[in-house]
Amino acid sequence: MSRRRLHGLHNVAMLLSTELIHAERAGPEVDRAAAMLRTGKLVAFATETVYGLGALASDSKAVQRIFSAKGRPGTDPLIVHGAGLDQLEPVVSGWSPESLALAAEFWPGPLTMVLERTDHVASAVSAGGPSVAVRVPAHPVALELLRSTGSPVAAPSANRFGRISPTSAEHVREELTGLIDAILDSGPTPLGIESTVVDLTGEMPRVLRPGGVTIEDLRAVVGDVDFVDRAATPEQATAASPGQFLRHYAPATPLVLVEGDALCAELAAQLDRRGVDVAVVGLPGDERGAARDLYKVLRKLDSADNRLLLVAARPPTGLGRAVNDRMFRAAHGRVVVDRSESTLGRLENLGRPVEADRP
Ligand code: TXA
Ligand code: MG
Repeated sequence: MSRRRLHGLHNVAMLLSTELIHAERAGPEVDRAAAMLRTGKLVAFATETVYGLGALASDSKAVQRIFSAKGRPGTDPLIVHGAGLDQLEPVVSGWSPESLALAAEFWPGPLTMVLERTDHVASAVSAGGPSVAVRVPAHPVALELLRSTGSPVAAPSANRFGRISPTSAEHVREELTGLIDAILDSGPTPLGIESTVVDLTGEMPRVLRPGGVTIEDLRAVVGDVDFVDRAATPEQATAASPGQFLRHYAPATPLVLVEGDALCAELAAQLDRRGVDVAVVGLPGDERGAARDLYKVLRKLDSADNRLLLVAARPPTGLGRAVNDRMFRAAHGRVVVDRSESTLGRLENLGRPVEADRP
Protein backbone atom coordinates (compact mmCIF):
# COMPACT_ATOMS: atom_id res chain seq x y z
CA MET A 1 0.00 0.00 0.00
CA SER A 2 1.37 3.46 -0.80
CA ARG A 3 2.06 5.80 2.09
CA ARG A 4 -0.52 8.16 0.74
CA ARG A 5 -3.20 5.46 0.95
CA LEU A 6 -1.87 4.34 4.30
CA HIS A 7 -2.35 7.73 5.90
CA GLY A 8 -5.39 8.72 3.88
CA LEU A 9 -3.67 12.01 3.14
CA HIS A 10 -4.24 14.08 0.05
CA ASN A 11 -2.49 17.38 0.64
CA VAL A 12 0.88 16.43 2.03
CA ALA A 13 3.57 18.37 0.23
CA MET A 14 6.50 16.35 1.50
CA LEU A 15 7.00 13.11 3.39
CA LEU A 16 9.84 13.01 5.91
CA SER A 17 12.24 10.16 6.27
CA THR A 18 11.43 8.63 9.65
CA GLU A 19 14.45 7.21 11.45
CA LEU A 20 13.95 4.06 13.53
CA ILE A 21 16.27 4.07 16.55
CA HIS A 22 16.53 1.09 18.92
CA ALA A 23 17.08 1.86 22.59
CA GLU A 24 16.24 -0.42 25.51
CA ARG A 25 18.17 1.71 28.01
CA ALA A 26 20.14 4.94 28.46
CA GLY A 27 22.94 5.44 25.94
CA PRO A 28 24.07 7.39 22.88
CA GLU A 29 20.88 6.51 20.95
CA VAL A 30 18.72 8.18 23.58
CA ASP A 31 21.03 11.21 23.63
CA ARG A 32 20.75 11.49 19.86
CA ALA A 33 16.95 11.41 20.08
CA ALA A 34 17.13 14.10 22.79
CA ALA A 35 19.30 16.27 20.53
CA MET A 36 16.64 15.92 17.82
CA LEU A 37 13.94 17.08 20.23
CA ARG A 38 16.06 20.08 21.24
CA THR A 39 16.25 21.19 17.59
CA GLY A 40 12.48 21.11 17.09
CA LYS A 41 12.12 17.59 15.69
CA LEU A 42 9.30 15.12 16.44
CA VAL A 43 10.36 11.91 18.18
CA ALA A 44 8.06 9.07 19.23
CA PHE A 45 9.14 7.24 22.39
CA ALA A 46 7.89 4.55 24.77
CA THR A 47 6.42 5.32 28.16
CA GLU A 48 5.07 2.74 30.63
CA THR A 49 1.55 3.38 29.27
CA VAL A 50 1.66 3.82 25.47
CA TYR A 51 4.06 5.38 22.94
CA GLY A 52 4.03 9.19 22.94
CA LEU A 53 4.82 11.61 20.10
CA GLY A 54 7.23 14.12 21.62
CA ALA A 55 8.16 17.72 20.81
CA LEU A 56 9.77 20.42 22.94
CA ALA A 57 6.89 21.91 24.97
CA SER A 58 8.29 25.45 24.69
CA ASP A 59 8.64 25.30 20.88
CA SER A 60 5.36 26.46 19.28
CA LYS A 61 6.39 25.37 15.79
CA ALA A 62 7.35 21.86 16.90
CA VAL A 63 4.13 21.57 18.95
CA GLN A 64 2.15 22.67 15.91
CA ARG A 65 3.77 19.86 13.93
CA ILE A 66 2.44 17.32 16.47
CA PHE A 67 -1.11 18.42 15.66
CA SER A 68 -0.46 18.20 11.90
CA ALA A 69 1.24 14.79 12.05
CA LYS A 70 -1.61 13.33 14.13
CA GLY A 71 -4.39 15.15 12.29
CA ARG A 72 -5.51 16.26 15.75
CA PRO A 73 -7.72 19.32 16.23
CA GLY A 74 -6.04 22.25 18.00
CA THR A 75 -8.80 22.23 20.62
CA ASP A 76 -7.45 19.04 22.19
CA PRO A 77 -4.59 19.88 24.63
CA LEU A 78 -1.40 17.85 25.13
CA ILE A 79 0.29 16.32 28.19
CA VAL A 80 3.67 17.79 29.16
CA HIS A 81 6.20 15.19 30.34
CA GLY A 82 9.11 15.79 32.71
CA ALA A 83 11.89 13.69 34.24
CA GLY A 84 10.72 14.78 37.68
CA LEU A 85 8.62 17.38 39.47
CA ASP A 86 11.56 19.82 39.36
CA GLN A 87 11.66 19.70 35.56
CA LEU A 88 7.93 20.47 35.43
CA GLU A 89 8.19 23.32 37.97
CA PRO A 90 8.58 26.06 35.30
CA VAL A 91 5.35 25.15 33.46
CA VAL A 92 3.06 24.93 36.51
CA SER A 93 2.12 28.15 38.32
CA GLY A 94 1.43 26.54 41.69
CA TRP A 95 1.34 23.11 43.31
CA SER A 96 -1.57 22.54 45.69
CA PRO A 97 -1.01 20.26 48.71
CA GLU A 98 -3.11 17.64 46.91
CA SER A 99 -0.97 17.76 43.77
CA LEU A 100 2.19 17.37 45.84
CA ALA A 101 0.71 14.42 47.72
CA LEU A 102 -0.31 12.74 44.46
CA ALA A 103 3.10 13.39 42.87
CA ALA A 104 4.85 11.94 45.92
CA GLU A 105 2.71 8.82 45.76
CA PHE A 106 2.40 8.14 42.02
CA TRP A 107 5.32 9.77 40.15
CA PRO A 108 7.03 8.45 38.18
CA GLY A 109 3.86 6.72 37.04
CA PRO A 110 0.66 6.72 34.99
CA LEU A 111 -0.94 9.80 36.57
CA THR A 112 -1.47 13.08 34.70
CA MET A 113 -2.42 16.17 36.72
CA VAL A 114 -4.17 19.21 35.24
CA LEU A 115 -2.91 22.37 37.00
CA GLU A 116 -2.72 26.14 36.34
CA ARG A 117 -0.05 26.87 33.77
CA THR A 118 2.67 29.50 33.29
CA ASP A 119 3.90 31.02 30.00
CA HIS A 120 6.85 28.62 29.77
CA VAL A 121 4.83 26.31 27.63
CA ALA A 122 3.61 26.96 24.06
CA SER A 123 -0.04 27.97 24.31
CA ALA A 124 -1.00 25.38 21.66
CA VAL A 125 -0.03 22.70 24.22
CA SER A 126 -2.92 23.89 26.40
CA ALA A 127 -5.21 24.51 23.41
CA GLY A 128 -5.09 28.18 24.45
CA GLY A 129 -6.53 27.43 27.91
CA PRO A 130 -5.28 28.42 31.39
CA SER A 131 -4.28 24.90 32.52
CA VAL A 132 -1.58 22.40 31.65
CA ALA A 133 -1.55 18.62 32.03
CA VAL A 134 1.72 17.24 33.46
CA ARG A 135 3.17 13.83 34.16
CA VAL A 136 6.42 11.99 34.98
CA PRO A 137 6.45 8.66 33.11
CA ALA A 138 7.78 5.49 34.77
CA HIS A 139 9.89 4.19 31.89
CA PRO A 140 13.70 4.14 31.97
CA VAL A 141 14.09 5.27 28.33
CA ALA A 142 11.45 8.00 28.60
CA LEU A 143 13.05 9.32 31.80
CA GLU A 144 16.51 9.30 30.24
CA LEU A 145 15.21 11.01 27.11
CA LEU A 146 13.60 13.75 29.25
CA ARG A 147 16.73 14.18 31.38
CA SER A 148 18.94 14.36 28.33
CA THR A 149 16.61 16.82 26.56
CA GLY A 150 16.80 19.01 29.65
CA SER A 151 13.35 20.55 29.36
CA PRO A 152 9.70 19.46 29.32
CA VAL A 153 8.37 17.52 26.32
CA ALA A 154 4.77 17.67 25.09
CA ALA A 155 3.56 14.23 23.98
CA PRO A 156 0.15 12.90 23.04
CA SER A 157 -0.23 9.21 22.21
CA ALA A 158 1.67 8.51 18.97
CA ASN A 159 -1.31 7.53 16.79
CA ARG A 160 -3.29 9.36 14.11
CA PHE A 161 -6.21 11.20 15.69
CA GLY A 162 -9.15 8.94 16.56
CA ARG A 163 -7.16 5.72 16.16
CA ILE A 164 -6.04 3.16 18.73
CA SER A 165 -3.07 4.17 20.90
CA PRO A 166 0.23 2.44 19.99
CA THR A 167 1.76 -0.05 22.42
CA SER A 168 4.72 -0.94 20.18
CA ALA A 169 7.08 0.91 17.84
CA GLU A 170 5.59 -1.10 14.98
CA HIS A 171 2.16 0.46 15.67
CA VAL A 172 3.74 3.92 15.52
CA ARG A 173 5.52 3.06 12.31
CA GLU A 174 2.26 1.92 10.69
CA GLU A 175 0.57 5.26 11.34
CA LEU A 176 3.24 7.95 11.42
CA THR A 177 5.99 6.91 9.00
CA GLY A 178 6.79 9.87 6.76
CA LEU A 179 5.11 12.29 9.16
CA ILE A 180 7.61 12.41 12.05
CA ASP A 181 11.41 12.53 12.36
CA ALA A 182 12.20 9.48 14.49
CA ILE A 183 10.79 6.55 16.45
CA LEU A 184 12.71 5.39 19.49
CA ASP A 185 11.94 1.67 19.70
CA SER A 186 12.10 0.33 23.28
CA GLY A 187 9.85 -2.68 22.80
CA PRO A 188 6.23 -3.08 23.92
CA THR A 189 4.86 -0.74 26.61
CA PRO A 190 4.31 -2.61 29.90
CA LEU A 191 1.02 -1.07 31.09
CA GLY A 192 -0.62 -0.80 27.66
CA ILE A 193 -3.32 1.73 28.59
CA GLU A 194 -3.00 5.52 29.01
CA SER A 195 -2.47 7.47 32.21
CA THR A 196 -5.26 8.59 34.52
CA VAL A 197 -6.00 12.30 33.94
CA VAL A 198 -7.10 14.17 37.06
CA ASP A 199 -8.11 17.83 37.05
CA LEU A 200 -6.94 19.62 40.20
CA THR A 201 -8.00 23.14 39.23
CA GLY A 202 -11.48 22.89 40.82
CA GLU A 203 -12.90 22.42 44.31
CA MET A 204 -12.55 18.66 44.21
CA PRO A 205 -10.16 16.47 42.19
CA ARG A 206 -11.99 15.31 39.08
CA VAL A 207 -11.00 12.30 37.00
CA LEU A 208 -11.27 13.22 33.31
CA ARG A 209 -9.96 9.88 32.07
CA PRO A 210 -9.56 6.67 34.11
CA GLY A 211 -6.20 4.99 33.49
CA GLY A 212 -3.18 3.32 35.02
CA VAL A 213 -3.69 4.77 38.51
CA THR A 214 -7.06 3.54 39.78
CA ILE A 215 -9.84 5.60 41.37
CA GLU A 216 -9.31 3.54 44.54
CA ASP A 217 -5.60 4.51 44.54
CA LEU A 218 -6.47 8.20 44.16
CA ARG A 219 -9.10 8.11 46.91
CA ALA A 220 -6.59 6.55 49.29
CA VAL A 221 -4.40 9.67 48.93
CA VAL A 222 -6.75 12.64 48.50
CA GLY A 223 -10.10 11.39 49.82
CA ASP A 224 -13.11 11.82 47.60
CA VAL A 225 -12.67 12.39 43.87
CA ASP A 226 -15.25 13.19 41.26
CA PHE A 227 -15.64 10.51 38.59
CA VAL A 228 -18.45 9.72 36.19
CA ASP A 229 -18.07 6.15 34.93
CA ARG A 230 -19.36 6.67 31.41
CA ALA A 231 -18.87 3.03 30.46
CA ALA A 232 -21.26 2.08 33.27
CA THR A 233 -23.68 4.97 32.75
CA PRO A 234 -23.57 5.85 29.05
CA GLU A 235 -26.62 8.10 29.32
CA GLN A 236 -24.55 10.45 31.48
CA ALA A 237 -21.83 10.84 28.85
CA THR A 238 -20.22 14.26 29.07
CA ALA A 239 -17.45 16.05 27.20
CA ALA A 240 -15.65 17.13 30.39
CA SER A 241 -12.16 16.82 28.93
CA PRO A 242 -11.82 18.37 25.50
CA GLY A 243 -10.31 15.13 24.19
CA GLN A 244 -12.97 12.82 25.55
CA PHE A 245 -14.86 12.34 22.32
CA LEU A 246 -16.47 8.97 21.76
CA ARG A 247 -14.73 8.59 18.43
CA HIS A 248 -11.41 8.15 20.24
CA TYR A 249 -9.68 4.75 20.33
CA ALA A 250 -11.82 3.37 17.55
CA PRO A 251 -11.04 0.41 15.32
CA ALA A 252 -12.50 0.56 11.81
CA THR A 253 -14.51 -2.69 12.31
CA PRO A 254 -17.74 -2.10 14.30
CA LEU A 255 -17.23 -3.11 17.94
CA VAL A 256 -19.89 -3.71 20.59
CA LEU A 257 -19.37 -3.85 24.35
CA VAL A 258 -21.29 -6.76 25.88
CA GLU A 259 -22.18 -7.20 29.54
CA GLY A 260 -20.26 -10.28 30.65
CA ASP A 261 -18.36 -13.19 29.08
CA ALA A 262 -21.26 -15.65 28.95
CA LEU A 263 -23.55 -13.29 27.02
CA CYS A 264 -20.67 -12.39 24.72
CA ALA A 265 -20.00 -16.04 23.81
CA GLU A 266 -23.68 -16.78 23.29
CA LEU A 267 -24.27 -13.78 21.03
CA ALA A 268 -21.18 -14.65 18.98
CA ALA A 269 -22.42 -18.25 18.49
CA GLN A 270 -25.89 -17.10 17.41
CA LEU A 271 -24.53 -14.47 15.02
CA ASP A 272 -22.10 -16.96 13.57
CA ARG A 273 -25.04 -19.29 12.86
CA ARG A 274 -26.71 -16.44 11.00
CA GLY A 275 -23.65 -16.05 8.79
CA VAL A 276 -22.14 -12.93 10.38
CA ASP A 277 -18.30 -12.75 10.35
CA VAL A 278 -18.04 -12.08 14.05
CA ALA A 279 -15.04 -12.33 16.39
CA VAL A 280 -14.85 -12.06 20.16
CA VAL A 281 -12.05 -9.85 21.48
CA GLY A 282 -10.19 -12.36 23.67
CA LEU A 283 -8.30 -10.81 26.58
CA PRO A 284 -6.50 -12.27 29.60
CA GLY A 285 -8.72 -12.74 32.64
CA ASP A 286 -6.64 -10.55 34.96
CA GLU A 287 -6.96 -6.75 34.80
CA ARG A 288 -3.26 -6.10 34.18
CA GLY A 289 -3.13 -8.56 31.31
CA ALA A 290 -6.32 -7.13 29.80
CA ALA A 291 -4.98 -3.56 29.95
CA ARG A 292 -1.62 -4.62 28.52
CA ASP A 293 -3.12 -6.51 25.54
CA LEU A 294 -6.28 -4.54 24.70
CA TYR A 295 -4.91 -2.24 21.97
CA LYS A 296 -2.69 -4.90 20.44
CA VAL A 297 -5.61 -7.35 20.15
CA LEU A 298 -7.96 -4.66 18.79
CA ARG A 299 -5.43 -3.75 16.10
CA LYS A 300 -4.95 -7.36 15.13
CA LEU A 301 -8.66 -8.16 14.88
CA ASP A 302 -9.30 -4.90 13.07
CA SER A 303 -6.88 -5.76 10.30
CA ALA A 304 -8.39 -9.26 9.90
CA ASP A 305 -11.51 -10.00 7.82
CA ASN A 306 -14.09 -9.52 10.55
CA ARG A 307 -17.35 -7.65 10.11
CA LEU A 308 -18.20 -7.33 13.78
CA LEU A 309 -16.25 -7.47 17.03
CA LEU A 310 -17.78 -8.28 20.42
CA VAL A 311 -15.96 -7.62 23.68
CA ALA A 312 -17.05 -8.49 27.22
CA ALA A 313 -17.10 -5.70 29.85
CA ARG A 314 -14.87 -6.21 32.90
CA PRO A 315 -15.95 -5.86 36.52
CA PRO A 316 -16.05 -2.05 37.03
CA THR A 317 -13.36 -1.74 39.71
CA GLY A 318 -9.62 -1.00 39.68
CA LEU A 319 -7.95 -1.12 36.28
CA GLY A 320 -11.15 -2.71 34.91
CA ARG A 321 -12.73 0.79 34.84
CA ALA A 322 -10.02 2.08 32.50
CA VAL A 323 -10.28 -1.00 30.28
CA ASN A 324 -14.09 -0.62 30.10
CA ASP A 325 -13.71 3.08 29.32
CA ARG A 326 -11.48 2.37 26.30
CA MET A 327 -13.70 -0.45 25.08
CA PHE A 328 -16.78 1.77 25.49
CA ARG A 329 -15.20 4.45 23.31
CA ALA A 330 -13.97 1.93 20.77
CA ALA A 331 -17.60 0.74 20.64
CA HIS A 332 -18.81 4.32 20.04
CA GLY A 333 -20.97 3.86 23.13
CA ARG A 334 -22.75 0.73 21.80
CA VAL A 335 -23.52 -1.52 24.79
CA VAL A 336 -25.53 -4.75 24.73
CA VAL A 337 -27.05 -6.26 27.87
CA ASP A 338 -29.48 -8.90 26.54
CA ARG A 339 -29.98 -11.64 23.95
CA SER A 340 -33.39 -10.57 22.63
CA GLU A 341 -34.36 -10.99 18.99
CA SER A 342 -34.21 -7.23 18.49
CA THR A 343 -30.67 -7.09 19.89
CA LEU A 344 -29.57 -9.94 17.62
CA GLY A 345 -31.19 -8.20 14.64
CA ARG A 346 -29.36 -4.99 15.46
CA LEU A 347 -26.02 -6.79 15.71
CA GLU A 348 -26.70 -8.69 12.51
CA ASN A 349 -27.31 -5.40 10.69
CA LEU A 350 -24.16 -3.88 12.10
CA GLY A 351 -22.10 -6.84 10.90
CA ARG A 352 -23.67 -7.11 7.48
CA PRO A 353 -21.40 -6.25 4.55
CA VAL A 354 -22.48 -3.13 2.72
CA GLU A 355 -23.80 -3.78 -0.80
CA ALA A 356 -20.77 -2.25 -2.54
CA ASP A 357 -18.41 -4.62 -0.70
CA ARG A 358 -19.95 -7.79 -2.08
CA PRO A 359 -18.08 -9.66 -4.78
O1 TXA B 1 -0.41 7.74 29.10
C1 TXA B 1 -0.58 8.82 28.55
O2 TXA B 1 -1.18 9.75 29.10
C2 TXA B 1 0.03 9.00 27.14
C3 TXA B 1 1.54 8.96 27.27
C4 TXA B 1 2.23 9.25 25.95
O3 TXA B 1 1.96 9.86 28.26
N1 TXA B 1 -0.42 10.24 26.56
C5 TXA B 1 -1.70 10.44 26.14
O4 TXA B 1 -1.90 11.69 25.56
O5 TXA B 1 -2.57 9.61 26.25
P1 TXA B 1 -3.22 12.04 24.73
O6 TXA B 1 -2.94 13.37 24.13
O7 TXA B 1 -3.53 10.94 23.81
O8 TXA B 1 -4.31 12.17 25.82
C6 TXA B 1 -4.24 13.24 26.74
C7 TXA B 1 -5.58 13.49 27.36
C8 TXA B 1 -6.58 13.99 26.36
O9 TXA B 1 -7.84 13.43 26.67
C9 TXA B 1 -6.59 15.50 26.63
O10 TXA B 1 -7.82 16.11 26.29
C10 TXA B 1 -6.33 15.55 28.13
O11 TXA B 1 -5.42 14.51 28.36
N2 TXA B 1 -5.73 16.83 28.49
C11 TXA B 1 -4.50 17.30 28.16
N3 TXA B 1 -4.31 18.54 28.63
C12 TXA B 1 -5.43 18.87 29.29
C13 TXA B 1 -5.86 20.05 30.00
N4 TXA B 1 -5.07 21.11 30.11
N5 TXA B 1 -7.09 20.04 30.54
C14 TXA B 1 -7.91 18.96 30.42
N6 TXA B 1 -7.57 17.82 29.77
C15 TXA B 1 -6.35 17.78 29.21
MG1 MG C 1 -4.49 9.73 22.59
